[in-house]
Amino acid sequence: MAQSKTPNHSLGPMKCPVTLQDVDLFSEGAQEHWYEAYEILHTEAPVHRIPGEGTSPDTDGFILSKHEDISRVVRDPARFPPVRFDKPMMAPSEVPEGSERKAAPEFTPAMNAMMISMQSLRPNMELWRAHRQQLTDPWVGPGAGRHEEMVTKAVDDLIDNWIDRGTVEFVNEFAAPLPQIVMNNVLGFPMEDMERLRAWGVAQVRRYVYGRGHRNLLTPEEEAEQMEVLSEFSDYVQQQVADKRREPKDDMISWLTQVTYEALDRKLTDLEIIGIVYAMHLGGLETTQYAIAEQAQLLCDDPALFAELKNDRSKIRFFVEEGLRVRAPTQGLSTRMTSQDEEFQGVKVPKGSILHMRWAAGNIDPSEYECPRQIKLDRKGLTRHLTFSQGPRSCPGSGISRLEQNIAWNRLFDRLSTLEYAPNNTFAHQPGIMLGTLELNLKFERAA
Ligand code: HEM
Repeated sequence: MAQSKTPNHSLGPMKCPVTLQDVDLFSEGAQEHWYEAYEILHTEAPVHRIPGEGTSPDTDGFILSKHEDISRVVRDPARFPPVRFDKPMMAPSEVPEGSERKAAPEFTPAMNAMMISMQSLRPNMELWRAHRQQLTDPWVGPGAGRHEEMVTKAVDDLIDNWIDRGTVEFVNEFAAPLPQIVMNNVLGFPMEDMERLRAWGVAQVRRYVYGRGHRNLLTPEEEAEQMEVLSEFSDYVQQQVADKRREPKDDMISWLTQVTYEALDRKLTDLEIIGIVYAMHLGGLETTQYAIAEQAQLLCDDPALFAELKNDRSKIRFFVEEGLRVRAPTQGLSTRMTSQDEEFQGVKVPKGSILHMRWAAGNIDPSEYECPRQIKLDRKGLTRHLTFSQGPRSCPGSGISRLEQNIAWNRLFDRLSTLEYAPNNTFAHQPGIMLGTLELNLKFERAA
């Protein structure tokens, strides 16, 4: 099948890398050349050092781009624990030298709740598993199928808005609102609060969009701004929890107010529930948006693939997995560290290093995948990709995200007979470490 033709390589200030010296995954414009950079990393530096960017100034960061290395790290949380800081790390302030610096703000209340809930509800791997199995799996993990009807309605309502027009700005009129509507429904947030929730969702991922370098650092000023916006979100969730404790409905927040957490044989506190809700809202929105927007581009790039899937819907789930593999929404995260001296691909990685796991590069590792950048619906081990990570800490929301993507394409194939790029696309991406196409103008013919 044809390789992607999406023409996105002449954008932004950065030139396409040719040698290892040109490779920079984090500066402005890097997004437009990530996949060229991964090919260079695979052949020349599969374990790539970022000097001075480890857990302390005298330690380093390392970009891992091989599937086997990333998989080994995430499957062994005792040896490669999560990076933990007492306070968020910050980028140097942009305030000029010598002027007064603001004190570093503490975590936002909502983030605080998330950390408290992690410490109290799942301080070790055994409780981590129990937490997932009892509290999140039934809603957004393997139990997400319960939302099929709701997701199908959300998809259809969105398509109804533009089906008569023959054109659509696919990101803002479909891919972005869908996960927001779905998560509002799952959590039980009122639909009339959608706009505010969307703004809070954007604030939640700000670190991953505007943060600098592999550690997604914000300046103290940006952290303070975050604090303000997300405090409002925290107050809002607190109010929702209180309302639902009093008058439970059929939604995840209500359920969390009532459930007895079996592993600790007790009910959850408000703060613990806020922590869980914060994590669901943070993880559940933009990631799925990016996945669906990328899949639309893969289909516009390959009309034969569009026709094949439209004619045989049983293949949609294979397409969704391959789409997630070749265009991972979360391209990489610096969330693990070494607890002892290690070696990867013959490169020594000392204790205290931060590991940047480049999921998207591992997903196209030629030692793991034949013709790695091609969509192959008959590939063996289709779900072995690293897009949701692997092992005990992998993404708990993969169930609902997969459901959304599968239903979206099923209904889009029902209702459209063609899908192609409209002439006015730049294919520019947002900054940061997510693969976020800013805008996607498409045209289509309506199915009979
Ligand atoms: C295409 C969509 C998505 C992608 C690519 C994605 C990717 C990821 C990745 C790579 C991680 C890190 C795992 C690790 O450190 O080993 C993660 C964690 C997480 N994801 Fe997702 N995710 C997606 C959708 C969702 C959804 C829909 C939700 C919520 C409903 C969600 C909630 C979370 C949470 C709460 C975590 C933190 C897990 C923890 O440490 O407890 N994600 N996700």
